[in-house]
Amino acid sequence: MQRLAIIGGTGLTSISDLHITNNQAVETPYGSTSAAFSHGELAGKEIVFLARHGNNHTIPPHKINYRANIWALQNIGITHVIAVAAVGGIHLNIPPKKIVIPDQVIDYTYSRKQTFFDNDLEHVTHIDFTHPYCNDLRIVMLQAAKDLKLDVFDGGTYGATQGPRLETAAEVNRLEKDGCDIIGMTGMPEATLAKELGLCYATCALSVNWAAGRGESEITMVEIDQAIEEGMGAVKQLIAASIKLFSK
Ligand code: HPA
Repeated sequence: MQRLAIIGGTGLTSISDLHITNNQAVETPYGSTSAAFSHGELAGKEIVFLARHGNNHTIPPHKINYRANIWALQNIGITHVIAVAAVGGIHLNIPPKKIVIPDQVIDYTYSRKQTFFDNDLEHVTHIDFTHPYCNDLRIVMLQAAKDLKLDVFDGGTYGATQGPRLETAAEVNRLEKDGCDIIGMTGMPEATLAKELGLCYATCALSVNWAAGRGESEITMVEIDQAIEEGMGAVKQLIAASIKLFSK
């Protein structure tokens, strides 16, 4: 049976339309998850919701226990994950409030526990990561966007930076030369770990600021919060529509 989870990022610590039936704390060999899992119904379908930064948004990107989160989701029978993320836009067509369904990732993070395959191995294991995001879920989200007449950016490369600081203008220039279209701090190792456990995982990113050096002024939290406030409604609509399509 296919079972879907939503991992909510900055600006999405809860989904008000999710009718929660129970909260489940899951212990893992890797420690605690960011929060208890909320089981509930959204768009007429049973889903699980996890607040990546904790319910009160207190866990910074480099301190998230990605392994516990992904292991626990898989352990309770989740097969598909939509990962919501706030990002900065580099590509000219990704201004604040634009939704992006990326199809590639470049990992610039460091010192994060980035694999399940590091201890007690029978064999050294290398997963294929040519296509980091699950195309089945990407297609569901793109179709849902089309149905809603939402103009989302199809594809693009997510540059995952370490944070928690934002980038320098020079770093953004380098990221752009590398081929990155958006920048976020939580996309990795989450995507890798999901793939290691065979989950179908795709990201729904909301641009909340122009990347450093690309806007008219320095980046402020006020500007980010405003873009989240104005843009997250569309993300929630997209998720609800995706869930409906997914259940078909
Ligand atoms: N850079 C990295 N992560 C982010 C940004 C950014 O500009 N905006 C939101 N998350």
